[in-house]
Amino acid sequence: MTRLNRRQFHQSVLASAAAASLPSFARAEATPILNAREGSARLAPAEYPETRIWGYDGLTPGPILRARQGERMTRMFRNDLPQASTVHWHGIRIENAMDGVAGMTQPAVEPGADFLYDFALPDAGTYWYHPHNRTYEQMARGLYGALIVDEQTGTPEVDLDEVLLLDDWRLTDEAQIADGFGNMHDWSHGGRIGNWITVNGDGAWSREVPRYARMRLRLINTANARIFSLETKGLEGWVVALDGMPLEAPQPLGDLTLAPAQRADLIVDVVADEGEEAFLVSFERDGGYAIAAFPVGGAARQTRRAAPDALPPNPVPALGDLETARHADLRMEGGAMGGMRGAMMGGRMMDMRDMAAQGKVWAFNGMADMGDTSLIDADLGETVRITMTNDTAWPHGMHLHGHHFRQIASDGSSGPLRDTILMNRGETVEIAFVADNPGDWLLHCHMLEHSAGGMMTWLRVS
Ligand code: C2O
Ligand code: CU
Repeated sequence: MTRLNRRQFHQSVLASAAAASLPSFARAEATPILNAREGSARLAPAEYPETRIWGYDGLTPGPILRARQGERMTRMFRNDLPQASTVHWHGIRIENAMDGVAGMTQPAVEPGADFLYDFALPDAGTYWYHPHNRTYEQMARGLYGALIVDEQTGTPEVDLDEVLLLDDWRLTDEAQIADGFGNMHDWSHGGRIGNWITVNGDGAWSREVPRYARMRLRLINTANARIFSLETKGLEGWVVALDGMPLEAPQPLGDLTLAPAQRADLIVDVVADEGEEAFLVSFERDGGYAIAAFPVGGAARQTRRAAPDALPPNPVPALGDLETARHADLRMEGGAMGGMRGAMMGGRMMDMRDMAAQGKVWAFNGMADMGDTSLIDADLGETVRITMTNDTAWPHGMHLHGHHFRQIASDGSSGPLRDTILMNRGETVEIAFVADNPGDWLLHCHMLEHSAGGMMTWLRVS
């Protein structure tokens, strides 16, 4: 062993003294990693094995990413899945290059590779993140998480703030994720509907709460295709935001429908008695199921609190004149029992059988694959109207990237800001938004088998 000479000793003492006196923030500031990889989760009851899943950081749901409005979100996405992937930040009015659409805003991130996501958070509210490459398979395997943006001011005072991600899974008898992601029956009907419902990856999610506690519940439908019909028992309150965006006034909570990708922020008070349970109930064909339970223990106060104020609005520009707005029609066709004979694909007309052989069973304006032509080219800042007609036998949840829109009623009045809207069969819906975010943006059905099967178009804002 060599001994330090006097000069080396002096230097090493100085070096370690300098290191010790430095606050150690250098390492902590390294970009946090969001790692997509295989994992396992206890989705099913204890007598079943754990389910092998794909998850962010190996978890389903992935970690809750949380920041304050006006801050940036920065994550190094590392893909350790056996498939290429991306991350899409659903509902964030994001810069186009960070939107995570494989083949459009970025190349898919190959297994073993990474991609830096770094973007501003203009709006407070409940958002989420999921892949945008083979989404119908990757999300069915568990790849998704919540992105929560806290208000700068005016956050409602609550005793509990809970994020509840609602999902359904198609599981085998061994509680493993069933194959068959490309099943054309699913694709041409209602999508891949599961046989097992979870809240936050748990088939029996439960949390003890005191009576008269006030909770903010952030519900997120992360299912591939299931429309949740919800009700509460023993919880009374208001809807305060939809798809992240605050309502102008809190709306008394009644039945609540959540299409795939939609969110609702509720403020509810626990009104069930001590020793009872309050529930979030999902209505299925054969009746209501409690999908989340709130056993009541103790009391938070003696009586219910007064009604909450509205959440502070997000800085979304007001719609311009609808008369002179740029306009497009979007006719949705195809699927089972839809009567569509064929559509354009790869620049030529194909009949349904040839289309199905290539995995396409739906069409927008007679086109079954997203062509090179956009639905609309809008000038930056222009108000855009789209009249969408559901000429199919199925409901669809239409999602616009990069913007929030309002539904325009026939009397010209406008609904709340949303990023995803449920359209029933035969329905015509008109939406309008200010095209204030430059780039190429998708407009697609968020029933993931439907978008993969042809229900996808795009618009350009420049
Ligand atoms: Cu939530 Cu195009 O996606
Ligand atoms: Cu659809």
